[in-house]
Amino acid sequence: MYIAILGRQPELGIAELERVFGGKSITMLSPQTVSINTDHFDVQRFGGVPKAGKIIAELPRSDWHQISQSIVGHYATKWSSFEGKITLGISVYDIKISSRDVQQTGIILKQKLKKSGVSMRLVPNTDPALNTAVSHHNKLGLSDNKIELLIVGISGGKTIIAESSGAQNITAYARRDQERPKRDAFVGMLPPKLAQIMINLASPYNLKSKINNLPAVILDPFCGTGVILQEAVLMGYTAYGTDLSEKMVSYSHDNLEWLSEGYRTKFDYKLSAGDAMTTKWKQPIDAVVGETYLGQPFSAPPSPAKLVEVVENCNHIISEFLKNLAPQIKAGTPICIAIPAWRDARGGLTHLPLVETVGRFGFKRHEFTNISQNDMVYFRENQVVARELLVLTKS
Ligand SMILES: C[S@@+](CC[C@H](N)C(=O)[O-])C[C@H]1O[C@@H](n2cnc3c(N)ncnc32)[C@H](O)[C@@H]1O
Repeated sequence: MYIAILGRQPELGIAELERVFGGKSITMLSPQTVSINTDHFDVQRFGGVPKAGKIIAELPRSDWHQISQSIVGHYATKWSSFEGKITLGISVYDIKISSRDVQQTGIILKQKLKKSGVSMRLVPNTDPALNTAVSHHNKLGLSDNKIELLIVGISGGKTIIAESSGAQNITAYARRDQERPKRDAFVGMLPPKLAQIMINLASPYNLKSKINNLPAVILDPFCGTGVILQEAVLMGYTAYGTDLSEKMVSYSHDNLEWLSEGYRTKFDYKLSAGDAMTTKWKQPIDAVVGETYLGQPFSAPPSPAKLVEVVENCNHIISEFLKNLAPQIKAGTPICIAIPAWRDARGGLTHLPLVETVGRFGFKRHEFTNISQNDMVYFRENQVVARELLVLTKS
């Protein structure tokens, strides 16, 4: 059993975990965490999960003093004859305590271990939970002597103790995002983490195509600079990108070649130019994942007349794309598309009308167990154009 610490928008992490492991395998433990009924969990595949760990105990109490005593007692014994130096980080979630209290627990444990002749370095807490960057840079959870305890207050006054199995590699994400040779601020910058979430939302974990048993093919019909294609090949899929713009197709090509050089791997991908409203795609297509046309960027909410115009334009392009796609994919094919939704000054959202009519085009919206489709909107605080994630299945 694993625990997942969820990211800035917890619903998105819950959604991708549900799609990969099944709704019944996910249990919400606290606002920031869920448990996953699995024997194996690779945190690097999940954009919405900054950290994860193996659950080792559930304590029937939430009093920090008692929890701290249990932890010190357990690990002072467990590590009393540890060979080599231990690096320890402690992260506490959904329990109201100060970073000083957390640090104090580590200091007491360090003193006890010292008496047994075991040396330990304690990673300093500036917050009750170490941030992902600190966990990652200290390589916590990645070897036997670099440990991070994840301590989580859950409902019913209980506490879960888990040992981290690693944090997201934020250095690698930043490199994939910022160092790739071709970027385009106008087309937009889909964060690689969001691309991973979208791929997980569309794809069953099974990497093999049902059609020919080769790696499953993920089609991105609006591939732009290729962020989704990059993440798809890294996750072991075959990437198939098309875009209206020849220039964007060449950008995707250059970025995939750059990725391939960096990873010293020949990735399997294909690219071609095409209008998503009319293109005839090559088979097989096992899943469709794409950030569609989002309309023009806005730095402030548009006037009502402008909003009507941009909504109509985007709704037309994306509806025509879905109508073109439907007869070209098999029943059951999973789809995740990011479509625009516009935030007003009070945080309200204008959705595309097609959200309510996808059934008419031959698609069914996925029903999540633990969250609602309405939660599936990705945005940053200052953004007017949010990305609504539509998770569909071909009927
Ligand atoms: C929001 S961007 C996607 C960016 C992409 N996720 C990336 O990694 O750069 C939308 C893309 O859709 C393309 N596009 C716009 N209308 C299109 C259409 N009718 N058919 C295919 N592509 C289209 C644009 O050229 C642009 O590259």
